[in-house]
Amino acid sequence: MRLYQILTMRGLAPHGYCLLWDPLLIWLHVISDAIIALSYFSIPVVLAVFLKRRRDVEFGWLVSLFAIFITACGATHVMSILVLWVPAYGAEGLIKAITAVASVLTALAMWPLLPKLIALPSPRLLQQINHDLHREAAERARMEEQLRQAQKLEAIGQLTGGIAHDFNNILAIVMGNIERATLGIDKPDRALGALANAMEASQRAAGLTEQLLAFARKQPLQVQRHDLSHIAEELVRLIALTLGEHIVLVTQLSKAPLPVDIDRQQLEAALINLAVNARDAMPDGGTLTITTDEVDQGEVLIMVSDSGTGMDSRTLERATEPFFTTKPVGRGSGLGLSQVYGFVQEAGGRLTIASAPGEGSRVTITLARGQSGAWT
Ligand SMILES: Nc1ncnc2c1ncn2[C@@H]1O[C@H](COP(=O)(O)OP(=O)(O)OP(=O)(O)O)[C@@H](O)[C@H]1O
Ligand SMILES: [Mg+2]
Repeated sequence: MRLYQILTMRGLAPHGYCLLWDPLLIWLHVISDAIIALSYFSIPVVLAVFLKRRRDVEFGWLVSLFAIFITACGATHVMSILVLWVPAYGAEGLIKAITAVASVLTALAMWPLLPKLIALPSPRLLQQINHDLHREAAERARMEEQLRQAQKLEAIGQLTGGIAHDFNNILAIVMGNIERATLGIDKPDRALGALANAMEASQRAAGLTEQLLAFARKQPLQVQRHDLSHIAEELVRLIALTLGEHIVLVTQLSKAPLPVDIDRQQLEAALINLAVNARDAMPDGGTLTITTDEVDQGEVLIMVSDSGTGMDSRTLERATEPFFTTKPVGRGSGLGLSQVYGFVQEAGGRLTIASAPGEGSRVTITLARGQSGAWT
């Protein structure tokens, strides 16, 4: 009821009347209020566009509240123009009351937010952080590159060490056979046999350097079909004499063919490494046994066992690690079993070592049986 009375004009005089309808005063008020109102109304539009584009803004609700407050302010100035001619003082007061509520709410909301607003990072600070991040990323990339280089060098070191090592093994066979030929020069058959062995071993050494060159040229491995027993047989003939008289060499080769798809040079190097290890483990003599057999339809194996010193669990655990050796400096480089391991990995096979102190060692290489394709 009261509200109705306030809103109805009840014979009040319009505001222009107070100004005595002086055109100058009237227009001064009208133009000023109109400009203020338009400016006020434009601000919420700016804020709306801002909020629409920046949906991530944290205090969006505060911006909306502020927009309501500003709109209400604009409306009061429109009313100021209206009341010059129409005495709608009730409606004008009501809009002022709404503005008052909005202003109080906005002020109340803004004060507690002040610390947070102050803490917002400035564009300069953000730029600095961005710059630091870029520098850090560049630094990391540089360090990664350095690490890659170091790893490459290490890999090259291992590779050359490994090849030199295998080459040495063959060289020992060549020298052993030449020595044998020299000693047995009065027994031509024996001397000729030893020389033939030396020649064959030299050819293998040439094969090894070929392998190194192939690696340098990034050629793939020479994987071909071979018979496991056949390779073992040939190699045994070659190494038998160099093992020394105190070691008995026994072969247990499968009669059935055992086809495998491997790089022959690598398998031979692995078998020589295993034979040399077995020899070193039997300084007072013993038996070295080379066995080939089929595991099942899909797999075949070649095993080198000895009746030597054997390995304790700690040695067994680390035996295939590159450069791990228990031999005195100058005697072992620790690259033998790591070559064997590397070969088996590449061939997609399995390497198992069974050994205990005083009970000898048994190293088994299990390979997939070559299923189809031609023999070489
Ligand atoms: N048949 C074996 N009997 C006892 N110990 C073995 C046997 N084979 C390997 N080992 C142990 O494993 C270690 C590592 O062998 P690996 O062939 O890798 O290196 P190495 O024989 O010490 O040196 P390299 O072969 O480079 O001359 C050996 O030092 C030895 O302790
Ligand atoms: Mg060795």
